[in-house]
Amino acid sequence: MEPHPDDLNVSATQPDWHREAPRRFWDPAPKLLRSIRSYQKARQSGGVFGKICAKYWVLVHWFWSVATQSEIHLHMEISGGLRLPHPTGIIIHPDSVIGPNCMIFQQVTLAGAVKVGGHVDIGTGAKILGPLTIGDHAKIGANAVVTQDVPVGATVVGIPAREI
Ligand SMILES: CC(C)(COP(=O)(O)OP(=O)(O)OC[C@H]1O[C@@H](n2cnc3c(N)ncnc32)[C@H](O)[C@@H]1OP(=O)(O)O)[C@@H](O)C(=O)NCCC(=O)NCCS
Repeated sequence: MEPHPDDLNVSATQPDWHREAPRRFWDPAPKLLRSIRSYQKARQSGGVFGKICAKYWVLVHWFWSVATQSEIHLHMEISGGLRLPHPTGIIIHPDSVIGPNCMIFQQVTLAGAVKVGGHVDIGTGAKILGPLTIGDHAKIGANAVVTQDVPVGATVVGIPAREI
């Protein structure tokens, strides 16, 4: 199935960092993501200063994880531009990989090694049971339980999720 032309306006390959920029002091999703990115940067830079910074970002990550009741691991591979409009109860297995410009709603679980493509929208309450791959520009319906690969541009809904 070909992606809808509107959906192609958001890139599946080029991260749009504005999507995750903090806009105010209390802005849990961008701040949770920033703690992950800053932690990874500090680890990469190495040295004593890098180690101290990494420890600081571990604390910041812990704070926002508690505030959002979400588990998004510090070592996860997440491309830029991830939007979490209502960041509560989002559980993502550390073996999952998330492509650029995705959007994940509240109460979503990515179990096991789920490879999420670019510009994938995952509706509230969806459960994605890996290992599996979700193609670029795909949409996962609210409360879907995904047990199989999702093709590029597909919309899937239901339990088990089927393409519509
Ligand atoms: C999956 C989704 C993207 C499909 O949107 P769409 O392409 O506009 O599809 P439609 O609304 O035209 O629905 C098409 C069919 O799928 C069904 N459907 C849509 N979403 C469904 C869902 N989550 N679960 C089960 N069936 C669903 C509709 O009932 C309809 O069935 P019908 O053809 O038998 O009448 C959307 O319904 C959805 O679930 N988005 C998630 C939004 C969300 O989580 N928002 C959180 C806000 S806080």
